[in-house]
Amino acid sequence: MRIALGSDHAGFPLKEHVRAYLVGLGHDVTDVGTYSEESCDYPDFGAAVGVLVASGEADKGVVVCGSGLGISIAANKVRGVRAVPVMDAEMAEMARRHNDANVVSLAGRYVGTARAESILDAFLTTEFEGGRHQRRVDKITALEDGRQ
Ligand code: RB5
Repeated sequence: MRIALGSDHAGFPLKEHVRAYLVGLGHDVTDVGTYSEESCDYPDFGAAVGVLVASGEADKGVVVCGSGLGISIAANKVRGVRAVPVMDAEMAEMARRHNDANVVSLAGRYVGTARAESILDAFLTTEFEGGRHQRRVDKITALEDGRQ
């Protein structure tokens, strides 16, 4: 799978672990940065990941900041992105099954490496259920177009 990956400084240590984990699983990872723990702005990296996913250059995205919140808000400003901050594998599974989430957001300051791996496993292997959930996701997409 082609995976876009990005973080701010607070998410950098976990992002580095995530990249190694995903590459080890055989995924094609595009790391948009940041590349150190020097202070930076999470919207830049949430947007960069979001653009790669929305354009189809990446199949899925992974973003990391301190809380997983700000960077998910930024990614969600890119049309076509459904980014979800999740704290465990069950939430990641539900975000795929019901919401067809295409970007998962991790809290670098709260989520350890083992839990991050379990979240990624669930997020990357769970299929969208479609059906009634497709209708609901279509309504989210309609909001992007100003159709309500
Ligand atoms: C950086 O200090 C922190 O605000 C950021 O990583 C993130 O948690 C924002 O939502």
